[in-house]
Amino acid sequence: MQLLDGKVLSQQIKQELAAEVADIKAQGGKIPHLVAILVGTAGRSETYVASKMKSCEEIGMKSTLIRFDDSVSEEELINAVRDVNANPDMDGLIVQLPLPAHVSADKVMETIDPAKDVDGFHPINIGRMAKGLPAYISATPQGILEMLKRYEIETAGKHCVVVGRSQIVGLPMSILMQRNTNPGNCTVTLTHSRTQNLAEICQSADILIAALGRPEFITADMVKEGAVVIDVGLERVPDATKKSGFSLKGDVKFDEVAPKTSFITPVPGGVGLMTICSLMQNTLKAARKEVYP
Ligand code: GUN
Repeated sequence: MQLLDGKVLSQQIKQELAAEVADIKAQGGKIPHLVAILVGTAGRSETYVASKMKSCEEIGMKSTLIRFDDSVSEEELINAVRDVNANPDMDGLIVQLPLPAHVSADKVMETIDPAKDVDGFHPINIGRMAKGLPAYISATPQGILEMLKRYEIETAGKHCVVVGRSQIVGLPMSILMQRNTNPGNCTVTLTHSRTQNLAEICQSADILIAALGRPEFITADMVKEGAVVIDVGLERVPDATKKSGFSLKGDVKFDEVAPKTSFITPVPGGVGLMTICSLMQNTLKAARKEVYP
């Protein structure tokens, strides 16, 4: 068993990005600029956005955080997105999800200029990704592809089982793994809460991607000997032995699954760190107008 180490890889990618940004600066170019819109203070969004902003700083990119109260109207948010769209200094925009229930996340996402949609959530980017055209790919799936590529994991012809059909991870992941690219060329099965014989399907996976958001759901009996296991889950589980009162768990029961695998991602220290790197990579692409010249 070998760990797919998000810590090592993300450090490496951040160094590469920092060097590229330093090059842009040295040549007198415009510094890449990421904007985040954050609504409210509930849940983990605040922490996630803070680490995105911190990563920008680490690699020398510019970042701006625009905050709104939970009471913000849909119109106000849409106007804020339009302002960013119109600002030539701002290269990339993310609107942190979830949004309050009275706001249509779809409407807000559809207002983002696809050329600044570094989260890859706009229907145009999702459609272009599905067609294999240049597009922003959402950060977690892109981070997983980067991991598979950098660890030189063979994917062609393999059976890839994705557990979970979220718009952010499961759905795009299933599309990306079947494309005629490397990584890719898998036979893909996308499973979800209504799937029958889930354990049996998981057992036939050469590459198992768990993205359902249920701590330690994937157990050793569901995993084939020698499989590659990618764990996208990150949940707080009460733990009296920890000072914080909780520990972080993935969707995979790591201790019993790991010995059966050829490669596995730890939680934390796996996919999560790669996600932030993808966002930074997309912001650099946006500044260079690589996806939409
Ligand atoms: N909420 C959870 N994950 C994400 C993400 O990747 N992007 C945004 N904008 N919101 C999220």
